Amino acid sequence: MVSREIKTILFDAYGTLFDISSIDAALEERYGELAREAALLWRRKQLEYTWLRSLMGRYVDFYDLTADALAYTLEACGLESSPADRKALMQEYYRLRAFPEVQAALRRMKGKFHLAILSNANPSLLEHAVTFNGLDELLSDFISADELHLYKPAPAVYRLPEKKLGLAPWNLLFVSSNTWDVAGAAACGLQVAWAKRTPAIPEKLGIRPDTIVKDLLELADMLGC
Ligand code: LAC
Repeated sequence: MVSREIKTILFDAYGTLFDISSIDAALEERYGELAREAALLWRRKQLEYTWLRSLMGRYVDFYDLTADALAYTLEACGLESSPADRKALMQEYYRLRAFPEVQAALRRMKGKFHLAILSNANPSLLEHAVTFNGLDELLSDFISADELHLYKPAPAVYRLPEKKLGLAPWNLLFVSSNTWDVAGAAACGLQVAWAKRTPAIPEKLGIRPDTIVKDLLELADMLGC
């Protein structure tokens, strides 16, 4: 159960608010049958590069890192691409669709809580996706790992909202669909809701979320919004 002292709800961006599979059509148009494999490898490489770059102390921002992961993916899948092709695919990141229930759920929660994003993405990527989906008035803050030149699940990133908003960890509810992100936030003492949008199973890291919901509307119900 989450505590009654929550003041701010922090949302992860990709996979939680925004649906990465919005890019699949553009991949399919270019790469046909190999698009699915490429989509999965691209996302996996993107995450791997956030972890590697944090450990190596060699930060580049999330846009550039994602573009590098795309270049790796296309080469690994044996797919030819020009810089212009890759740029066109990267542009899709600026117009990822929000999951269908997000707008209505945020509207309900907004009446009761301060709502913000806590993401690895650089602010410009976040601002574009938020504006594209008409969520500007619902989300008050974009807190980005970019400020620290480190990526989640580095503890310093999950501690950023406490510092910026002047709140204790138990006043913050972090919401993510990503199992590694759920574990990272819970390890830092934040209240955590796992938005279990897929049949994923929990990580075996000895850390559990405070609650599990199927989507953000169920979260709004659970919080009495
Ligand atoms: C984010 C990615 C990791 O928004 O989903 O931080």
